[in-house]
Amino acid sequence: MIIAQNGDVILRDFWESDIPKLAEYADNEKISVNLTDAFPHPYTVEDAKKFIEMVNAQNPKTFFAIEYKGQYAGNISLMPKTDVYRNTAEIGYFIGEPFWNKGIMTKAVNLICDFGFNKLSVVRIQTGIFEFNNASQRVLEKCGFTKEAVFEKAITKNGIIYSEIRYAKVKPVEL
Ligand SMILES: CC(C)(COP(=O)(O)OP(=O)(O)OC[C@H]1O[C@@H](n2cnc3c(N)ncnc32)[C@H](O)[C@@H]1OP(=O)(O)O)[C@@H](O)C(=O)NCCC(=O)NCCS
Repeated sequence: MIIAQNGDVILRDFWESDIPKLAEYADNEKISVNLTDAFPHPYTVEDAKKFIEMVNAQNPKTFFAIEYKGQYAGNISLMPKTDVYRNTAEIGYFIGEPFWNKGIMTKAVNLICDFGFNKLSVVRIQTGIFEFNNASQRVLEKCGFTKEAVFEKAITKNGIIYSEIRYAKVKPVEL
């Protein structure tokens, strides 16, 4: 199922046929270095299979495939939180290196924000970016996110301590 589209960029459910490209793109140190340790590295075909099985069993789904010009290109997630945070969602994403710097993630983030704000009960979308990830910070700034805080020394990645930059976007007020 397609959940959102803007020109060549589509957000849709995962297909089994995405497995080889997901494994190929995700198995990249330049990607995993920016993500939590829950993201496998190395990333195998078996990891891709298990991930797609997990997502296909979700209801409602929180992970979507990003398709660019008819090809699987990456992943994006919008995960609503619980309890008093239930109208807040965490966003996460990566795109395969061959697709970088074409404006694809900017479109994908805008699409999933519209989806969350208009189709779900989400009023706030937030995430934390490792301090060295300038491209991701740029994407969020282009998408209207606000840099809200620096969580000093919040991250330990590959044995090194970094700060986390917290970004958020809130649902525009309807007039
Ligand atoms: C970060 C990432 C999602 C960006 O995706 P993308 O499709 O290339 O993003 P876009 O093309 O929409 O925008 C990238 C912007 O960052 C800029 N950029 C790229 N590399 C940069 C760098 N090293 N330093 C500063 N800016 C950089 C680009 O110039 C562009 O900005 P511009 O439009 O003002 O020129 C992609 O690089 C990626 O998947 N990285 C690995 C995983 C990751 O970091 N996920 C996010 C974890 S929070």
